[in-house]
Amino acid sequence: MTLPTPELDRFDIISPEARADIHGLYRTMRAAGPVHRFTDPFSGRPAWIVLRLPSCVEILRDTTTFIRDKSALPGAKPPGPQPRGVELLVNSMVHRDPPEHTRLRRLVNRAFSTRIVESLRERVGTIVQELLDELEPRDEFDFVQDFAAPVPIRLLCEMLGVPKSVEPELDGWGVDVISDSMPRMLGAINGLRDLINPYIDALEKKPAETLLSHLVHARTDNGERLSRVELHSMTLLLFLAGHETTVNLLSNSLLAITQDDALRAELLAEPKLFADHLEETLRYDGPADLASVRYVSRPVEVDGYSFEVGDPVFVSLLAANRDPDVFPDPERFDLRRTNRDHIAFGAGVHSCLGSRLARMEALEALKGLFARRPGLTLAVPTSELRWKPSRMMHGLAALPVRGR
Ligand code: HEM
Repeated sequence: MTLPTPELDRFDIISPEARADIHGLYRTMRAAGPVHRFTDPFSGRPAWIVLRLPSCVEILRDTTTFIRDKSALPGAKPPGPQPRGVELLVNSMVHRDPPEHTRLRRLVNRAFSTRIVESLRERVGTIVQELLDELEPRDEFDFVQDFAAPVPIRLLCEMLGVPKSVEPELDGWGVDVISDSMPRMLGAINGLRDLINPYIDALEKKPAETLLSHLVHARTDNGERLSRVELHSMTLLLFLAGHETTVNLLSNSLLAITQDDALRAELLAEPKLFADHLEETLRYDGPADLASVRYVSRPVEVDGYSFEVGDPVFVSLLAANRDPDVFPDPERFDLRRTNRDHIAFGAGVHSCLGSRLARMEALEALKGLFARRPGLTLAVPTSELRWKPSRMMHGLAALPVRGR
């Protein structure tokens, strides 16, 4: 039997108050039902939000029923003129469906192989030590701004082959690019495109040992390559998908350590446990909340509710990763949890391309940090911490810390 459509906006998942205790809100929502509806601030349209892990996985895996490309929906009108920058979003791999997605992903997969990620480990270690040297004179600093943000930015700059001097600009865009405001987002997108263009021109003529050069010269077996728009789009995607997420993983994991002395003692005594710590942070307090929107391409039932053609659907990675039917005692941070089947990196064909890189980066950053400053603590009460105003991301706006 199909259940009646849930009331629109019965729960507010968008406001700063909601984001301040998003896990508490998802607990309340879960008790009321597995699926809800909210007005998506980005499109202004009613959208579904799905909370159960098995249903979220099914949605992410079924690329025929739940599609990314709205213009492929039955009866869709061709899009009208769009503001500059939108074409970079809609052409990005994460917005495409197979078989186009498959072609694009194939062209970049190799750049994220285990071998390449391993070859970057030492560089990450050096970046971390450089940052810790810079922070050495300071007893107090903002972990987000002064440590977590520069780690992925510096690595990304090196991988792309752009100079360190552009870091502050990139960092500002990092926040704008995930903003729920379209003009801010487009400003950041166009800024990034204009910045990267001359580097692509140069690499066309003279290849280098960088990720960007690899992308410029990547060819499929039948000789296909990325177009200029696709190159811009791919660079933007790497920046968009790889920056803020890694920052949030670092700050969410540090927050957990500062809240639990026994956990800190265990990690310091046995640093190889940092890998387990990160894995549990990904489940318990992951860096991303909603996966990118999918559109229903044929009528389908999800958890007893009727989804109609064209309906936008979001899965909540945060809610799914605390699904009590999957993870026993889900609200407990458990370093030794045996079930690691969380979906912090998504699922299906769009599952995170950078998961290996992110895990390696975060592990080296945390190990390096605690080797130098094992006694780092919060410099403000947790009640003063603020979460970033984004429905897609889950990370602290600032994390003031002190000590050594
Ligand atoms: C802890 C850090 C990270 C988390 C939690 C994360 C999470 C995710 C998630 C949930 C998706 C799927 C989105 C969807 O299906 O709508 C995704 C896709 C993606 N991620 Fe990550 N990500 C992280 C780091 C990175 C890094 C470091 C990079 C690269 C520099 C990266 C590149 C990508 C790309 C390119 C995609 C799109 C893949 C596709 O469409 O085939 N991510 N990520």
